[in-house]
Amino acid sequence: MLADDQDIIMPSNFAWGAATSAYQIEGGWDADGRGPSIWDTFCHKKGKVFQDQSGDVACDSYHLWEEDLKCIQQLGLTHYRLSLSWSRLLPDGTTRRINQKGVSYYNRVINDLLANGVSPMVTLHHFDLPQALQAQGGWQSPQIADLFDSYAQFCFQTFGDRVKLWLTINEPYIYAKFGHEDGCHAPGLDQPGVSLYLAGHNMLRAHARAWHSYDALYRPTQGGQVSLALFSDWAEAHDPSSALDVAAAERYMAFVLGWFAWPIFVNGDYPPEMKARVEAASRAQGLPSSRLPTFSKEEPRILGTADFFALNYYTSRRVWPGSGPAKIGFEGDLEVERDIDPAWPVCGNSWLAVFPEGLRKLLKYIKDKFGNPTVYITENGFSQVGPVEIEDARRCRFFRDTLLQVSKAIHEEGADVRGYFAWSLLDNFEWADGYRVRFGLYHVDFAHPRLKRTPYRSGREYAQLIAQNKTSARS
Ligand code: BGC
Repeated sequence: MLADDQDIIMPSNFAWGAATSAYQIEGGWDADGRGPSIWDTFCHKKGKVFQDQSGDVACDSYHLWEEDLKCIQQLGLTHYRLSLSWSRLLPDGTTRRINQKGVSYYNRVINDLLANGVSPMVTLHHFDLPQALQAQGGWQSPQIADLFDSYAQFCFQTFGDRVKLWLTINEPYIYAKFGHEDGCHAPGLDQPGVSLYLAGHNMLRAHARAWHSYDALYRPTQGGQVSLALFSDWAEAHDPSSALDVAAAERYMAFVLGWFAWPIFVNGDYPPEMKARVEAASRAQGLPSSRLPTFSKEEPRILGTADFFALNYYTSRRVWPGSGPAKIGFEGDLEVERDIDPAWPVCGNSWLAVFPEGLRKLLKYIKDKFGNPTVYITENGFSQVGPVEIEDARRCRFFRDTLLQVSKAIHEEGADVRGYFAWSLLDNFEWADGYRVRFGLYHVDFAHPRLKRTPYRSGREYAQLIAQNKTSARS
């Protein structure tokens, strides 16, 4: 242990976790009655994913769950974040047909976790919409909110006696923007400035319905908590002495995090600056109304529909106001340019600049803007590309530096952080990057017949850190 590990002091009962998602690890894409999801469709088209790879087999966790469990045990995790595959449970997305084999699989996972003293944190939906629902308009259709609510209630009824931490939807920002504007994620739509806002709006409506259902019908007997996992970069003014750069940083935060956090944690509506800018840009395009939808008064209320703040943080950007001709779409509405401070090392893939202080600043921002909520960091990680480095010293350093910043956010900024989930337990299917980018605490040998899992040094050190914190919390 390095000396600075002594400074990483987390509160007692801190959740030490690792996270995965169904499509990225399970494989078994057509096993035992699972219905197809939009990621099956997307990957099976040529040219969408690096080398046309797919999650057809992935880490084969559907068949090799006990191997994942061994990793979880070796790490000494107190919590494990997994997602359920909607189309494994409900092949056509609706409760008309329930796939009992899917139910049995997740029952086994949840029961094994609990038998090993590990609390499951379960995401209902992590990017993999049943294809049957995409065919009906997917997240652009208003009906999706009720369909999601039925699915969520099915999960609460089936697993909620044992699962006490729920996340409805993973990263609506990435899902809406990459899937419904940039086209680089499933369902691969690219209609600038319209479909992402509609998809994001329906995700908020769906989330709120599921939260209300839990609150009214399940919380009284099950006593759990429900939130949604919000992605955010941290944005810094490129020139902190420039009022315009400072304003650009505020705007970036409002569009990326505020888009979903404002309605839930502040006032039931989108951030004022986002509303004003999308409205003005829409008018300038000659549209009769804003491309950003409005919340109807008849809808279940959105404000207050999160029992904690779930944050996925990876990286930071330096920002300044955009110049150039306004593009139609999210980027044109936002009008912010960005780059990476040369002092922030870039790890693995080009977007991931390492800036652990950004997480501390973001935690302070969340505390100040959103009423000092209880926070779980539900994803954070460091990727490798190129030759496999089992002795991954840089990632070891990354986890220590990051956890030190989390510790400082708690003790110096007063942020109420209750847990940290490393992304990811295993090397897995990294969406459009396929298997080229590796985020695991465990290396997975995708050429091995049993997809052998081997701990990286960072996995071994994470286990040591967890053990040391558990001991100091007891003493
Ligand atoms: C997603 C994960 C993904 C990770 C690294 C997050 O956006 O929730 O599914 O693997 O980032 O890119």
